[in-house]
Amino acid sequence: CIKSIILAGGSGTRLWPLSRELYPKQFLKIRNRSLFQDTVSRCLQVSDISEIYVVTNEVHKYFVISQVEELGYDMPPENLLLEPEGRNTLPAICYGIREIDKAFGKSVVGVFSSDHVLDPVAMETISGAEKIASEYLVTFGIVPSSPHTGYGYIKPGEELEVGNRVREFREKPCMEDAKKYIAEGCLWNSGMFLMGTDIFSEEVQTLAPDVWNAFENAGTIQETYSKVPNISIDYGIMEKSSRVGVVKLGCKWSDLGNFDAFYAESEKDKANNCTLSCQNVLVDSNNNFIHSNAKKLVSLIDINDMIVVDTTDALMICPRKSSEKVKEVVNLLKKRN
Ligand code: GDD
Ligand code: MG
Repeated sequence: CIKSIILAGGSGTRLWPLSRELYPKQFLKIRNRSLFQDTVSRCLQVSDISEIYVVTNEVHKYFVISQVEELGYDMPPENLLLEPEGRNTLPAICYGIREIDKAFGKSVVGVFSSDHVLDPVAMETISGAEKIASEYLVTFGIVPSSPHTGYGYIKPGEELEVGNRVREFREKPCMEDAKKYIAEGCLWNSGMFLMGTDIFSEEVQTLAPDVWNAFENAGTIQETYSKVPNISIDYGIMEKSSRVGVVKLGCKWSDLGNFDAFYAESEKDKANNCTLSCQNVLVDSNNNFIHSNAKKLVSLIDINDMIVVDTTDALMICPRKSSEKVKEVVNLLKKRN
């Protein structure tokens, strides 16, 4: 039986102004359910609700409680791990693993991002990797469809009882390297992991001692987070460890990182427009993503392949192909404040 950690602390800057620090993308409802709710449902296939831990920011506590309640479950308060501030995924996972270790002792734990669209059958492959999870930090690989620079790349090596040993893990390479990795048969890192609490703890102690010590030597979680470095599990552990395994996931997977990915996953009308929760009149306009939660009618004329997102205090318009650049707006806004 597997315990689960759901990471739900990111802010999704490339979906601004829809996704905000105060309302991040994992809690946004697409097709009546949020990606976070889909993640909880998938975890319930392999873990009891008492074995699912959610690590998120203090300010998102009520999203978690109410969205789990909508699924018909009560989130046990001790399973809701609240970070005073985000310090990226390694401290978040460390927090979850240590709490699971305290509550259940040595266990095998699945770590799940909450910003993915994933076919629920994936959980069979993921739980099937339990056989190797006390010896390897298991990653789940996706066959790449383009040299995307926003993902980790995994080079599989010798075969194991399930999956392969990893020869190289490289987080977010440049475009040139991403092309090289694809030519060499590398897989994308899906951002989900399966690992024993003991092997994970050993690797963090050896490879990221600053992170380990911040948890080991501090008293409250506030003290820990005032000391712990900001680092992802990918840079902090996966790139450095020699005990990484990979199991290929053959099913549908998508990281809803930007509006173009969001558009690809959403329902569209005959003209291929996705008009999420908004009143609109469109004339000769195709292939657009249009969202408005400002009570306003949106009208487009001869507009194609665009993103239009209108909220009460911000309007964002860009070509779909420039979706990755939305984060630059957020960076500029941060500098201004
Ligand atoms: N609790 C908590 N605290 N969660 C966090 C934090 C944090 O500080 N930072 C990020 N998360 C959550 C996000 O909400 C998301 O669900 C997950 O952790 C992954 O973080 P991202 O910021 O979305 O990572 P990424 O997409 O850039 O990269 C990761 O995922 C890719 C696949 O989607 C890496 O693992 C890549 O190697 C991988 O290819
Ligand atoms: Mg992501």
